[in-house]
Amino acid sequence: MRTTTTLASAMALLLAASPAAAQKFDGLADTPPMGWNSWNHFGCQIDEDLIKETADAMARNGMRDAGYEYVNIDDCWHGERDEDGFIQPDPERFPSGMKALADYVHERGLKLGIYSDAGAKTCAGYPGSQGYEYQDAMQYARWGIDYLKYDWCNTGEGGAQRNPVEAYTTMRDALYAAGRPIVLSICEWGDNEPWMWGEEIGHLWRTTGDIINCWDCEVGHGNWSSFGIMNILDKQDGLREYAGPGHWNDPDMMEVGNLSTPAEDRAHFTMWAMLAAPLIAGTDIRDVSDSLRTTLTNEEIIAVDQDPLGIQGYAHKKTADVEIWVKPLMDGDWAMTILNRSDEPQDFEYDFMNEYAFEDALTGRRTAFEKEVYDVRDLWAGEDLADTSRPIRKRLPVHDVLALRLTPTGPMPTRQENEIEPDPGSAKQE
Ligand code: GLA
Repeated sequence: MRTTTTLASAMALLLAASPAAAQKFDGLADTPPMGWNSWNHFGCQIDEDLIKETADAMARNGMRDAGYEYVNIDDCWHGERDEDGFIQPDPERFPSGMKALADYVHERGLKLGIYSDAGAKTCAGYPGSQGYEYQDAMQYARWGIDYLKYDWCNTGEGGAQRNPVEAYTTMRDALYAAGRPIVLSICEWGDNEPWMWGEEIGHLWRTTGDIINCWDCEVGHGNWSSFGIMNILDKQDGLREYAGPGHWNDPDMMEVGNLSTPAEDRAHFTMWAMLAAPLIAGTDIRDVSDSLRTTLTNEEIIAVDQDPLGIQGYAHKKTADVEIWVKPLMDGDWAMTILNRSDEPQDFEYDFMNEYAFEDALTGRRTAFEKEVYDVRDLWAGEDLADTSRPIRKRLPVHDVLALRLTPTGPMPTRQENEIEPDPGSAKQE
């Protein structure tokens, strides 16, 4: 953690003091945002050709049609401010300028995102927006930007620490004043519990420090750490009640495509869908393999993430090796994912009729498998399995998932309906 301040009371005061007219733009993230971001794979090695080629690829490889919308430039695009204080892109990396790049991306049916920071400098040391919020928001609006990831580096320490609610509210108001609908992605790493105050300010908020491309690890960098997929998953505990349409927990941009095996990529993607997380791809998608494309564009997994109810899933049952997660979906459906966290294959059996019902304390939704039958569909195999009247048995490969969708089909047949009519003659003889 880079900061630790908790500011519940100051937050409330600041929110109450905000001008009545200022607000975030509504309707921009009714379901979790989907797109791509440069940071996880490319770091600072970015330029306009990469962004254009990525937009071309998304339009061509099925990602756009599967719902990926934003092409997001992360840190390191910046040049200097001009004599009037307006930020300019790096003239060597982005020689055509941001307006031309936004036009290019828009012409392909996609949207352009950009990155800034609430401090004087970004995490990589480029100009931040502190003190320039309204000018920067105006510049982004002029360029045709659609999404802003707003980071938290260099915002001070101790008594000089910038107040996060003030900082993010200022940028929210600046974007609103600039008049162009722009998604605001709050990126303060969960340090100040943004789930407590983020709903009125942004459309998504990071819940943790940075993700890194390992299954289960923590990598220290001095005063902060980055975390593997399982570590980040564990840190989502207790946060589901804060997310919903228009305001999402963000467990960070995906490492799908950057992990060690296709199974890990598949499991990571599925768990982010179970979390109703923003699906922001973080790999090089310009020349994507068939296997990775199949993972990133699995419509049935994406439908779990993008379900209009926007209910974040939760762990129904956990052992050290295997976790069962469930997520209530529209029309009485449920997503159910069985995750093998362990380094060995696991044999999994689930007898719906004799296990505890799924019972969602948040929504009051519950299953009654003894009374109602659900069809069971395997979302990675793309095939219908049995229904919930019979147990399922599967071998789970290492670091992989079984992802299911349960759809109610009607009442469980009563015993009499199931049984063959007894022979009246033999009954009499007894
Ligand atoms: C922070 C963010 C990352 C990325 C880098 C860029 O660490 O959390 O997601 O934007 O800054 O420098």
